[in-house]
Amino acid sequence: SISFSTGKSAQERGLSHVPESYVIPTSHDPNLHPETAKVPVVDLSGLRPASAQRSLVIQDIKNACHRMGFFQIINHGINQSLMDGALSSAFGFFNLPTPEKMKLMSNDVHKPVRYGTSIKDGIDNIQFWRVFLKHYAHPLEDWILSWPANPPYYREKMGNYCSEVRKLGLELMGAITESLGLGSAYLSDKMNEGMQVMAVNCYPPCPNPNVALGLPPHSDYSCLTIVLQSSPGLEIMDMEEGKWGKVPKLHGALQVHVGDHLEVLSNGLYKSVVHRAILNCERTRISIASLMSLGLDEKLGTAEELVDEQHPKRYKESSFGDFLNFLSANDIGEGKAFIDTL
Ligand code: SIN
Ligand code: FE2
Repeated sequence: SISFSTGKSAQERGLSHVPESYVIPTSHDPNLHPETAKVPVVDLSGLRPASAQRSLVIQDIKNACHRMGFFQIINHGINQSLMDGALSSAFGFFNLPTPEKMKLMSNDVHKPVRYGTSIKDGIDNIQFWRVFLKHYAHPLEDWILSWPANPPYYREKMGNYCSEVRKLGLELMGAITESLGLGSAYLSDKMNEGMQVMAVNCYPPCPNPNVALGLPPHSDYSCLTIVLQSSPGLEIMDMEEGKWGKVPKLHGALQVHVGDHLEVLSNGLYKSVVHRAILNCERTRISIASLMSLGLDEKLGTAEELVDEQHPKRYKESSFGDFLNFLSANDIGEGKAFIDTL
């Protein structure tokens, strides 16, 4: 494949047209110009344990997880300067000369640090208009020295953001298990030992955003994913309306995705959100997704507390490692590719 052999994908070569291999089937309908989705906004200022507002915030989170599997958060406690630092580190990395980035190039989904284009370079049937850097982020000291050495501020700025967003993710997971009636500590030991995978995505301007996609419709294999973006470009499948909706811009907000693991844990009370990244012809968009899950080989199944005669167990258990093995052997399917129902 062109992208794998040169390390420079079509999207980076400044083409004035979209090569055939990037054109997605019309059944994907990238050109629907959907309306803005009614995305819940949850104000986290009342979430702190002693707050009188906590139960109201938990209720907001419950409604959002149930209705959409997706919400935006404000007053989440992460400073704008930390978020700006993470975004500028990402821009700095993607602006490096290609040979520098190629040092990290790999199609092996098991690699803890890797650079790539599309999803699996040269292997995907359809290419996606994205370049990315993925790296593990917890425990930070175990991984940070294998992160990019350039730009020189990358490790410090991205590392600071990763630690903060991890704390936030753990806090949100506690709120979510509480909202399921399982208590805020239900998964905390396992989450503390769990993984944090950063997916740093770069979507360069696309000459014809109507025929290609940045990422195909998929759900995340995580408990939850927290996303920081430089500009809008995410669309979610509204499960009630059965249609795509744009996620509105909300300054300073972060986006939270319910991942497949939470769907399994909750026995389907919460559904992972199917989402896709769309493109624009004007500016590069960066998104930094923090995927929080249990340890690599830690199986997660449905909470027994949520299973009874009226609500039989609906899902098989699986681990992040199982998912990686699946991903390594398969082209990414559409929608919920991996989640296994009984
Ligand atoms: C992702 O699906 O992880 C990326 C989402 C985005 O680019 O907003
Ligand atoms: Fe995703």
